Amino acid sequence: MTASILNLPQYRNQLGRQIVAETPETNKPDLKNGFPIHDLGDGSMISGHVDGEELVLVRRGDEFFAIGAHCTHYGGPLAEGLIVGDTVRRPWHHACFSLRNGEALRAPALDPVPCWRVERLGDKILVREKASPPAPKRGTEGPSSVVIVGGGAAGLAVVYCERSSKSPSKSVK
Ligand code: FES
Repeated sequence: MTASILNLPQYRNQLGRQIVAETPETNKPDLKNGFPIHDLGDGSMISGHVDGEELVLVRRGDEFFAIGAHCTHYGGPLAEGLIVGDTVRRPWHHACFSLRNGEALRAPALDPVPCWRVERLGDKILVREKASPPAPKRGTEGPSSVVIVGGGAAGLAVVYCERSSKSPSKSVK
């Protein structure tokens, strides 16, 4: 059990690349050239690419967001996700990402998705340069011990986060 937990990020990324590689290519718009606002309804998203990177453009009211196309858990397509407020929630294992900065807000995703700056120009939304990723959060306070029931993706994510913490709990050292 210890070896698989220590290699969790490597395993996760490897599996994510396999899933992405199996995803069939489709004709997706180059969002650097802009996308018509009237073609993107409130609460919907469109897949596209910029500079060879896949991303999704999301509309929430009069706000627009551009984030990476693939979940950082096992690489699932974010375009299948559900927009809730300023987050996108994944149907596979319920990870949640901020549309504003790409931060992974809920396990089992641990890493943020990339974000791009967007600009409204006339009746189009253009995706511009990539934004800086959010700084990782490190808790300074928490329980002295944790009991994890079950060994699924969420349980492994808790172990991984605890081990990465500056003050890990006693039970998961
Ligand atoms: S692949 Fe996204 S939550 Fe697992």
